[in-house]
Amino acid sequence: MAAEPLRGGGPGASAEPLRVGVLASGAGTNLQALLDSVHGAEAVIVGVAADKPGAVALERARNAGVETAVFALAEYADRDARDTAIADWLLERDVELVVLAGYMALLTSPFLHRFRGAVLNIHPSLLPAFPGVRAIEQAIAYGVKVFGVTVHFVEDDGGVDTGPVVLQRCVELADADDPDVVHAQLRPIEHALLPEAVRLIARGALSRDPDNPRRVVVARG
Ligand code: GRF
Repeated sequence: MAAEPLRGGGPGASAEPLRVGVLASGAGTNLQALLDSVHGAEAVIVGVAADKPGAVALERARNAGVETAVFALAEYADRDARDTAIADWLLERDVELVVLAGYMALLTSPFLHRFRGAVLNIHPSLLPAFPGVRAIEQAIAYGVKVFGVTVHFVEDDGGVDTGPVVLQRCVELADADDPDVVHAQLRPIEHALLPEAVRLIARGALSRDPDNPRRVVVARG
């Protein structure tokens, strides 16, 4: 079933900043890109949650005065219980959009149902090529000449990195053989693309093609 558009009414329909919750597991450079661009403008990041207490992303959030929380799996009976706690925490903050910015755990179905059509992920490959972990390593091993980044919705479709594509951007790296070098080339693309997607959602500029809900239609301008 197609997800409802996150913000209806067309571009510029809502003057209120979009309330965003971010989930992260690691360095948080994508979170930082959001904090430095859309936060305080079209969007407000109202909370950052991590599954690992040492995630540098938490520090970045605290430095920006954003509330943080840690939901370590070991402290819950199972993944469902952990994800319920995360969802409750986000909903207490009236989050309208959940952004996975390097969040390395898979979300359970009940979580995705509670935020239906409102979970965004960034992935360092041109999906549907190379989903899952170690995407850049997979791409190098395959021998591709063009690498890229995808921002996509996450839906309860049973797959990993299979949700509708929002934005993609590529870079030609014909001789690439080092994942770190490729990642360094992809970083600036990630840091531009994720804020751009959040901005588009905040402006109500994204909708689904009624004939093919996999197609996310972007109203530009
Ligand atoms: C990024 O490469 C993103 O595409 C992937 O995980 C990485 C997170 O990096 N999903 P950071 O924690 O935002 O620096």
